[in-house]
Parts: sequence; C-alpha cells; structure tokens
Amino acid sequence: MRLMSGGQIDTVMQEDRLFPPSAEFSGASVIGSMAVYEALYAEAKANPEKFWGDLAREELHWFKPFTKTLSWKSPNAEWFADGTTNVSYNCLDAHLSTHRRNKAAILWEGEPGDTRTLTYQQLHHEVCKFANVLKSLGLEKGDVATIYMPMVPELAIAMLACARIGVVHSVVFGGFSAEAIADRNNDARAKLVITADGGWRRGKLLTLKATVDEALAKSPTVKHCVVYERAGNKPAMTAGRDLWWHEQMAQVNANCPAPELESETSLFILYTSGSTGKPKGIRHTAAGYNLYVKKTFQWVFDYRDNDIYWCTADCGWITGHSYIVYGPLSAGATSLMYEGAPNWPAEDRFWEIIEKYRVNILYTAPTAIRAFIKWGDHHVDKHDLSSLRLLGSVGEGINPEAWMWYYNKIGGGRCPIVDTWWQTETGGIMMSPLPGAIATKPGSCTKPLPGIIPTILDENCQPVPQGQGGMLCMSHPWPGMLRGIWGDDERYRLQYWSRVPGQYLTGDNARQDKDGYYWIMGRIDDVINVSGHRLSTIEVESALVSHPLVAEAAAVGRPDDLKGQAVAVFVTLKGGEATEALRAELKAHVRKEIGALAVPDEIRFTNTLPKTRSGKIMRRLLRDIAAGKETLQDTSTLEDYTVLAKIRSDEE
Ligand code: WTA
Repeated sequence: MRLMSGGQIDTVMQEDRLFPPSAEFSGASVIGSMAVYEALYAEAKANPEKFWGDLAREELHWFKPFTKTLSWKSPNAEWFADGTTNVSYNCLDAHLSTHRRNKAAILWEGEPGDTRTLTYQQLHHEVCKFANVLKSLGLEKGDVATIYMPMVPELAIAMLACARIGVVHSVVFGGFSAEAIADRNNDARAKLVITADGGWRRGKLLTLKATVDEALAKSPTVKHCVVYERAGNKPAMTAGRDLWWHEQMAQVNANCPAPELESETSLFILYTSGSTGKPKGIRHTAAGYNLYVKKTFQWVFDYRDNDIYWCTADCGWITGHSYIVYGPLSAGATSLMYEGAPNWPAEDRFWEIIEKYRVNILYTAPTAIRAFIKWGDHHVDKHDLSSLRLLGSVGEGINPEAWMWYYNKIGGGRCPIVDTWWQTETGGIMMSPLPGAIATKPGSCTKPLPGIIPTILDENCQPVPQGQGGMLCMSHPWPGMLRGIWGDDERYRLQYWSRVPGQYLTGDNARQDKDGYYWIMGRIDDVINVSGHRLSTIEVESALVSHPLVAEAAAVGRPDDLKGQAVAVFVTLKGGEATEALRAELKAHVRKEIGALAVPDEIRFTNTLPKTRSGKIMRRLLRDIAAGKETLQDTSTLEDYTVLAKIRSDEE
C-alpha cells in the first residue's frame, strides 16, 4: 500500500471577500455570535471529554447511562462504552411522545413526480415492521445486510430497521456494478441483500434486481434477498432466496421495542474507494456517531422546528447517511428525499422542488452547482426560491466563483453558505461556518466545530507557520470518528495513524489564513510540485473557473525534465470556442489571478471530466492521461466509464 507523502505547500490564492450573517439570521440562531462560538469552542477544547459526555447525556436516550466517556488507546477509541442506547430509538421513538409525533419525518418525491409523506409515527411503524422481517429471516445483532436501493423511503426504513436490532448495514450506491456489490458482499460477509425491482434515473428504469442477481451468483455468504417493488418491472425471483418486501411486511406486526444496544455496537459499514487498492469498509458505531451527527446537524444547519430541509445526496454516500437519515431524524427534522436526477425532466428540477415544498435549507455539492451554472440562469429565474434561508456545500472544494453564483443566484444574497468539510471517515461535519456566528469567505470551510482540534503539519510532523499549507490532521479523537476498516485493523492503523504519530491523518492539505480560517487545498497526493514549489490543485482550478468561459477545471502535475512537474489542466467550457487564442487568454488569466508559477504548461479542452459517482473530479486518472500513460488504476468508482475514452479522443 502506498502511504501518503505530505509536507508544506505554497499558497498563491488570495480571497478577501467576507460575508457576515445578517442580524436577523444571527438573532434567531442557536449559535448567534462569534463570542458564543468561541466560548463553546474554548470550553470543548479545554476538556473534550466533559464536553462530549455532557452532550451525550442531554441528547441521546440511555437505557443504561454510561460512566466512562472515552477510552482511547490510539488508534482505537471507545465512546460511552458501558452505556446502552439505540440509534433507531433516538431517531424515532424519542419523538413519539412530543409534538413531533405527527410531523413529517420524510417528504419524498420520485423522479416521475409521485410523492409520499411519512410522519415520525408512520416511519416508526414501518421501521418496526421491517425490523421484524429482518428477525424473521434470522438476522441478528452483528450480521451484515447490504442495501442496494433507489432513493425511496424504504431505503431509509431498511437502514433504520437494521440499526434498531443491531444489524450492520452496508449501503451500496444504486449505480454500482454487480462486481462492486459482490466485492462488498464478500468483504463484509453479508447475509442479506435488500434491493428493489428498479428505480428511475433520467427517465430510464434502472433494473437493480437484475444487477443484484448477477452479484449474488458470486456472493456465497448471502442467504436471502428482499425486493421492494418500486417500478413494477417484474424481475426474476429465485425461489427460496428472493422475497418480496410487501409479502414479508404482510406477515409481521409492528411490535418491535428497541433493544438496548451497547454504545460501540457497529451501526454501519460504508465502502469508500481509497486512491489506491480495493475499497475499504469504513466502520461506524452507534452512540458516538449518533451524537455527532445530531449535534453537527443542529449546529451547522441551524435547524428550526418548522424548516423543510433538503440534502440532495444519495443515501449511498456518507452525506446521505449522516445528513438525510441519522442527523436530521435524531434532531426531529423534516428531511426531503428526491429519487432522481437534477436535470429530469428538465434542468430546473431542483428549483421546481424547492418552490413546491418551500425548502428552507438546501445542502448540495459543488459538482451540481457547476452544472447549474453551465445550464444557465434562466432555469433558476423561472422559480420562486424565496423560502431558502441557508445553503450548504459538501464533497469537494467549492471554487470561489461558483460560491458567489450560489450565494447570489440561489440564495438571493441573503442566505449564508455553509461549506462543510468532512469525510466518510469522520462520520460528520468537522469544519464549517456556524451560519449565525461565523462570517463566510468564498472557498473556505472557515472554522472547526466545537470539540474538533485540527493541526496543520509539515513533512516532519511539525506545525507549519500560519499561512502555509500542510497536512491536515486531528489531534484528538471525536465521537463520530470511524472505529476501523472492516476486517483490516492493520490497514486502518497504517492509513490513518502511522504518518503522524498519535494523530489522525485526513489525507487532505490545508492552510489557515490570518483570521484563523481554514482553506482545504486538495488531497495530499494531488499536490503539484513545480520547481520545488508545491501548488494546490484547487487554487489553480479556482483561478481558471473565475474566467467567464470556464465551467470546470482540473489541474494535475505532469512529469517535466526541467521543473520536476509541469501544470496540466483539463477545462470544460460554458460556451465559446476551444481555440489557441482562448488557451493563451486562460494562461494570461491564471498569471494575473495567482501568478506566473501556476500558469499551466498545458491546457486541454474537454467536454467532460472524469468523476467518481459522488461527483468528485478524479485527478489521479487525469494525471495518467497528462503523462501519456495507460490507466492501470482502479476505475470501479468512476461515474461514467466512457468519459475516459472521451477525454483521450477529445485531445488533439
Ligand atoms: C473532500 C464527503 C474541500 C476532501 C463528506 C475530503 C472537501 C473528501 C469538502 C472526503 C469541502 C469534502 N471542501 N474538500 N467542503 N468536503 N471534501 O469521504 O478531499 O466522500 O477528504 O466524504 O472530500 O470525501 P467523502
């Protein structure tokens, strides 16, 4: 396994625009001023264990209270270990004796336009029944169930039912191949697969069950497959193995009291691709994760009881786990779930949904925002977005110009943007503006949340001087942190805890500016080294995206005899012609924006950039293309396999 290198990097970008929250926004916020944030942060830093322990007692239901908050034998953490709780209880039962019992927990819109609403009471009913189905199939605490479903409420129901009885779910994004499902089934030794006959994506039917059939031929540990009928496309059902969701639900009652589960009961595994090697099953556990996603949801999204909150992620990603299901539901929120694509039936679908449901909080990804910009403002102008109060971004760095568009065009200049930095491994948001307190800067995730203690280190593991970039690490455990890689303790230790002794290595570079704001500079392995100057990908890309004709940009290093590495960029355009003149203009633009050092040696125009299915630009693949190498790397998470071929043929 390749370990990440790391070290100090230079910054070339300056961004001084500052957007404080309005007095009106701050006035109604839970954390409504910088002083309140700073006091909370200082309190947590002085004694993280007391801070989290107090919160855990307040925020979660304990069947048996814990007496020890943290036991930490690096790299193994246990939080609240001798207490017992139940995540599904905290998300559902806890609300049934409150005014939220009849509140909408999930508002759902299918891609074809069908809709459903589930109140907390109704969701509880369905979850209890499905938990009984799981039990009737012989599943027990510690068993693993793979969930491969479209974005329908039953996906959340299946997750919560597993959580209820201690079955560990492993959600596999509904776009992955049979091979990917089989690999994950086998790595986790899954006993059950929960799927649907089909789902809708850009007007096309995805035949999920057919893909699962192929996977099950190579998944010897799986005994059963439960199939939810979404599309009515009558898939083949293997007798004895395959069971219809509705038939199983008809045979059980809704009596399923939440059992007491130890805090460190495994809640789920979520496979994430490492930049090298096979996907790793990130393991999260019940109580710490539950506390962390509940509190971060409340802090960052400043949730108020009547808000309609919409996170556009898929439950196949950590963002869906933490901020569609577990965070919002344990906070008693109304979480909107949308099944389909943003451009179906037309490129205004998101804006239509916001207008229809009067959405107050929107949480989406930079890749989507850049697509919206490219599709054109007229799609936005058709809709009334005045219900929006707060906007969020996650998944990649957001280029400052995309941030400005989001702020002005979608937020009408009135909604704070929370640029949330975190990872599958961190469980929940680690750095983000608290929108009522922290003034935002385009492209910065601003400050760490209370209880999170970041460090930025050079290659000798020494703190870098302020303003310099270096490896972003965490110096203290937090409740939402991963507890390991499923079945591979050594890989866990090597990957996250060996580069810097005693600290969690995020794998990202970051710098802190003079105001103490954090700027994520991209993955450590993506740094471009030009004549000894280490440049961050996002800074070069943001300079390009600030040109009016550029939609997206990806910057990579290409071997160069003279300079070590040269900067090669891949650019997609909003319009205009890919000409030599534009190439020269873009070089001049980068020179003006961030200086001569970062001027690309090579600019390639392309129609698309390769992305992971969660929308991240795959720079490592572009690196090979720029170097003229064949790609030998793992491309199993690539969104569109044809993109690679397209990029090669787009070249002169
Ligand atoms: C990147 C997604 C800059 C980063 C929740 C991180 C970001 C990786 C941001 C984790 C952000 C995520 N600004 N970069 N706001 N959010 N990243 O596991 O490189 O899918 O390490 O988790 O995405 O991706 P993951």
